[in-house]
Amino acid sequence: MTVHHITHPLIQHKLTLMRQKDRSTNSFRRLLGEISMLMAYEVTRDMPTQLIEIETPLETMRSPVIDGKKTVFVSIMRAGAGFLDGMLHVVPGARIGHIGLYRDPKTLVAVEYYFKMPQDMHERDAIVLDPMLATGNSAVAAVDRLKETRPKSIRFVCLLAAPEGLANFQASHPDVPVYTAAVDRELDDHGYILPGLGDAGDRLFGTK
Ligand code: URA
Repeated sequence: MTVHHITHPLIQHKLTLMRQKDRSTNSFRRLLGEISMLMAYEVTRDMPTQLIEIETPLETMRSPVIDGKKTVFVSIMRAGAGFLDGMLHVVPGARIGHIGLYRDPKTLVAVEYYFKMPQDMHERDAIVLDPMLATGNSAVAAVDRLKETRPKSIRFVCLLAAPEGLANFQASHPDVPVYTAAVDRELDDHGYILPGLGDAGDRLFGTK
């Protein structure tokens, strides 16, 4: 498995602000939006392009556009939604899929409650979004289900990853590259990332 650790100073700076426990919901959400735009830039960096013929005001030319059907962003509910707006600013024509999973608080196993993807998945590049790769159980379950739709490619984007989650994900999906802004130290007994930033969904939506 490839892990792309995105070390751009702007992303690292904004992530530090997001980790601070007194940061407001408003500010947390805005920062995640800003980081999403920057991460969209990184995750799409090697997407294939094809040349099409266009007319400038002066002459015709062949110029590159992204090859193939539109990208699909696959948001793992609910915290994945925090990535969507920023990613769509950069890739406005993308389609969006949703996977609803919750973590059983006792077993930490991922349970699916929603799954909806656009058509023609076999012609699309899928970018799976979930801010926290903690145990990796949700990520593994989401990508298991997504693979049933046979997308052309799959990438996984998170903000923070735990070493345990990366190992778990790698064991099941060595073919799916992971893009993360940080790999933190470890998980606590409740499956939270340490030092982490707390519950991403709660902080994003202002719930508790
Ligand atoms: N999900 C979160 O939102 N935070 C963690 O630390 C782990 C999983």
